[in-house]
Amino acid sequence: MTIRITGIRKSFKQQDVLRGIDLTIQAGEFVSFIGHSGCGKSTLLNIVGGLTKPDSGSVLVNGQPVTAPGPDRAMVFQNYSLLPWLSLLANVRVAVREARPDWKRERVDEMTERYLTAVSLWEHRNKRPGQVSGGMAQRAAVARAFAVGPRTLLLDEPFGALDALTRSRLQQQLIELWGHESETETVLMVTHGLDEAILLADRIVVMSNPPYQSIRTIIGVPIPRPRHRTTIGHHPAYDEIQQQLVDLLIADHVEELAGAAA
Ligand SMILES: Nc1ncnc2c1ncn2[C@@H]1O[C@H](COP(=O)(O)OP(=O)(O)OP(=O)(O)O)[C@@H](O)[C@H]1O
Ligand SMILES: [Mg+2]
Repeated sequence: MTIRITGIRKSFKQQDVLRGIDLTIQAGEFVSFIGHSGCGKSTLLNIVGGLTKPDSGSVLVNGQPVTAPGPDRAMVFQNYSLLPWLSLLANVRVAVREARPDWKRERVDEMTERYLTAVSLWEHRNKRPGQVSGGMAQRAAVARAFAVGPRTLLLDEPFGALDALTRSRLQQQLIELWGHESETETVLMVTHGLDEAILLADRIVVMSNPPYQSIRTIIGVPIPRPRHRTTIGHHPAYDEIQQQLVDLLIADHVEELAGAAA
């Protein structure tokens, strides 16, 4: 699915959060979004997901305007938002049933089992979110998104709250699921992790800070796949991209501080 974002503007309480966002994402691309807290990353993802309406501009998915959420675009939220009174199994199954009312029960069960197994949670399927670790809950949220069989996955800092080891395991699982073990072809992922963005993305969209609120620049990651976190650092482009990202984020921060002092 090609996603064409054109002229997006969004404000809350007369304060612009996003302005002049133009971006086209090709089917099969993995695009990461990076920027300081509050620059509008979640807002942009929610607009693509159809949960937030822009004040102006449009999002076209394969030429069709986005007006509401749909099973073609599954989201994993910043706070992974599982229903606390349901088991992990029921959380996934309910979401699939709701998103895919036309699927037969067997297909719903098959997809639920496939992705809970893929994230190593099948044996914990009967536990509720409060009875498992944060990392397990986050894996369940990832399984729930994949189980809907979306062509596009919208991930909002899905691994933000995890320890480094769990995070790297999940990153690898995500690469595998996206690569060949699912119907998902396109991923948009918000992250604060520079390493994570370089490991996963084909392109990294760097957002600028208020009062500029737009895309500052886009950095391509020309590192061939398959990529692995233990070896990717050896690639000659790695350090250069990382330094570029650090420079961009620090430059924005300095401008922000200068603006606040003026
Ligand atoms: N529903 C809302 N009502 C009012 N203001 C909002 C709403 N949603 C977001 N905002 C404001 O819009 C700005 C951008 O928020 P957003 O959540 O998109 O940022 P973000 O880049 O995802 O930040 P973070 O990295 O902290 O998650 C913030 O100033 C936030 O307070
Ligand atoms: Mg956010």
